[in-house]
Amino acid sequence: MTKQRDSAPRAPEGVDTEKPSAARIYDWYLGGTQNWAVDREFGRRMEQQWPLVRPGSKQNREFMNRAVRAALRAGIRQFIDLGSGVPTAGNVHEVVEAELPEDHDATVVYVDYEPVAVAHATLILEEEAATDWAGIVQADMRDAKAVLRAEETKRLIDFSKPVCLMMMAVLHFVGPDDDPIGLLKAYRDKLAPGSWLAISQMSEGDGTGKTLEGLRWFVEQYRKTSNPVWLRDREEIEPLFGDWTLLEPGIVHLPDWRPDRKLNALEAEARPYAWCGIAEKPGA
Ligand SMILES: C[S@@+](CC[C@H](N)C(=O)[O-])C[C@H]1O[C@@H](n2cnc3c(N)ncnc32)[C@H](O)[C@@H]1O
Repeated sequence: MTKQRDSAPRAPEGVDTEKPSAARIYDWYLGGTQNWAVDREFGRRMEQQWPLVRPGSKQNREFMNRAVRAALRAGIRQFIDLGSGVPTAGNVHEVVEAELPEDHDATVVYVDYEPVAVAHATLILEEEAATDWAGIVQADMRDAKAVLRAEETKRLIDFSKPVCLMMMAVLHFVGPDDDPIGLLKAYRDKLAPGSWLAISQMSEGDGTGKTLEGLRWFVEQYRKTSNPVWLRDREEIEPLFGDWTLLEPGIVHLPDWRPDRKLNALEAEARPYAWCGIAEKPGA
């Protein structure tokens, strides 16, 4: 029998395979396999109009990896990854494993509200025998209490010690009506001095990008789904860090945060369309 290119993975319980899902579309952008025809069809339409979506997603993932490595090198051993997505290469716990000795004491909590992301993360953590020190919470990250009080969070995180809280490519799903400033404060308040907050967020950049029209079309399409997208510029992102101290080099485009490689031409084109930054809670 010929293997179908569009064959779908078996749907875990609770997964709606009729409607595209942001988590599974992003998995497709990154070249993953945990997506359905409906997700790929949506993803391909997006890519046709805005070809920078895949290089942009890769840059986001690479920033996330550099952020984890930087936090580890700064001595942080606890990670909460909000909107963690369908696990693909270079998940937080894999970076931790690659950086630390086998008998490390680090812990990781993944949080996502998409059942595929949760099912897949559970499977990976079980297969990699990592469930002692890493887990996943199925929750809406806009409900900070639900995330912070979840059993897995309580099991894995000691809030008297620093945590690296990660919001990578998830805040563009948090709209103005979700009170992003208040939400971020609720998370920041819970964390110990010395904690880090790492954010990446899609943006129109400086408004002069060659493919801005494509990006605007892309945003319009997501607005019609159950995962509408909001872009933010640099000035809107800065207050999300509250009074925490921005680490060098501040709020910059994804490839510019402590870069470790050169960009190709397409990647350079994608550069303006997202901001990122990491800040540390004072008082440590
Ligand atoms: C674009 S992906 C980013 C994945 C990963 N953070 C990364 O940067 O590679 C966004 C993820 O956030 C999840 N997400 C969006 N809104 C969410 C919410 N309110 N609560 C929990 N997860 C959310 C989606 O299901 C998706 O898996």
